[in-house]
Order: sequence, then C-alpha cells, then structure tokens
Amino acid sequence: MSSLSIVPVAGRIGAEISGVRLGGDLPPGVLAEIRLALLGHKVVFFRGQDHLDEQSQVAFARLLGEPTAAHPTVPSLDGNGHILDLDYRNGHKVDRWHTDVTFVDRPPLASVLRAITVPAAGGDTLWANTVTAYEHLPAALRALLDQLRAVHTNQYDYGRVATADDPDRARKYAEVFASTVFETEHPVVRVHPETGERSILLGDFAKRLAGFTAHDSAALIRLIQEHVTEVENTVRWRWSPGDVAIWDNRATQHRVVHDFGDRPRRLHRVTIAGEVPVGVDG
Ligand code: SIN
Repeated sequence: MSSLSIVPVAGRIGAEISGVRLGGDLPPGVLAEIRLALLGHKVVFFRGQDHLDEQSQVAFARLLGEPTAAHPTVPSLDGNGHILDLDYRNGHKVDRWHTDVTFVDRPPLASVLRAITVPAAGGDTLWANTVTAYEHLPAALRALLDQLRAVHTNQYDYGRVATADDPDRARKYAEVFASTVFETEHPVVRVHPETGERSILLGDFAKRLAGFTAHDSAALIRLIQEHVTEVENTVRWRWSPGDVAIWDNRATQHRVVHDFGDRPRRLHRVTIAGEVPVGVDG
C-alpha cells in the first residue's frame, strides 16, 4: 500500500504529491510511483522539501535520468555544474510560454525546479499540457500539424521581454543567453517515447515552420500556441520556499508570471538529458 498521496490540482494537468521526503535515496517503489504520476499528470508538485540543498536536489534528479549541464550557454551556479540559478534579480526574465531548451537536438526529458526565495504574492508558474492541447484540436488541424516541422533557436527576441525602463538588463541577459547560437529542427507533433501520446512541440524558441513564409509561419504558430495555452489546458502553482516541481518536458510548456517587480525570486533548476524528438512518421 502506497504512502504517497497524489491529488490532481487542475482538470487536465498537475498533481500535488505528499507523504515523501525527496532525496537521492528514495525507495524504488516510491520513485516508480512518482514517475508514473509524472507521466500521467505532466507536472507534479511537492510542498515542504526545505531539507534539500544543491547536492541533494541533483542526487534526487539523478534518479530520473542523467542531469545535463545547467544550460547550453548560461553559466551554472558556482560549485554545481548541474544547477541553473534562476535568480530574477540577475536579469533572468524568460516570461514567455516555452518548453525548456528546445533549441538543441535533444531537449531535456524533464526539469526539477526548487523554490529558494519567492515573493509573498506573485511569481507563480503556469504549465500547459501539450498532449491534451493536441487531443482537443479539430481532426483536420491535427492532421496538418502531424506533417509540420519547426526551427527552434536560442536567438530569442529579447526586445519583447525587455521592460521599457530596463533595456540594459535585457541586453546583458541576451549577451549571455545567446552567446553561442543554437538552431535545430523538430517535428511539431512528437510521439512521447514512454506513453506513445502525441504532443505539440513548439513554444517560444520555435521561430518558424519549415517550408512556410515568415508571415504564414508566424500566423500558424500563434494559432497553435493559442490552443496550447488555453486556460483549460493549464495549471498555476503558487510557490512557497521549499516547494519542488517536476515537469515532463516532452509533454508541457511553462512560463513564469512576471508580476513581482524587483522583489527577490530565486529558484534552482536541474534538467534531465532527453532524446531526439520523434514525429508521427518515425
Ligand atoms: C523556467 O522557465 O524554467 C523557470 C520558471 C520559473 O521561474 O518559474
């Protein structure tokens, strides 16, 4: 009999798991339940994991797969090459819907995010289920998407995220984030390697659809993204320090709600190595 409680947070995505102290020494049965919940709910949340530090966060993440370098271009946290230090006072401000690091050939399989400091109000994170997004599309649109491929790059449009009064901060962050340019092509519909579900692989690093004009490409991407991010498809998490979220990066998009001004917000993220996305035709 399981000691875990797994309670859905929203209708189509997200569950809160309690009754577990995360770390690198989880019993195999507990780990198997967490993995199953992750595949089913796409993002799972844990409250009160204040005992975790950088090392034990990585040790736990390692149970899910091989932790990657913190990021292809952004330097890792000092002393731990697997931790991306999302300290929003340092100019981190990618507040657009995205799937992590889709601009490389093998985007991460999952991400493990731990809250260190969060504002008393604001700074929630939203996730969208890219499987149910696909499933709720009209059949004709699904058939079109099945055939499409998209070019993803880290040449992010920083102009769109720069606040009018802080272009300097956006420029500095762009210099780091896009210090090396990555570009790759993925199917717009990928088949999940574990569940066999079809999910939409786009998000803000997808810059254009292969074979379409810039105009048509932008219009189609906007249309698809509107479906992905419909509120019925999403879950919103109100963070407390010590919370952990794990998401299946093959079946979700996410974004921070940047409504906390200059109040401190800091989280540590570890990503798990993934595979080359496979489309519906293999
Ligand atoms: C991320 O985009 O991976 C981090 C989201 C957040 O800071 O809430």
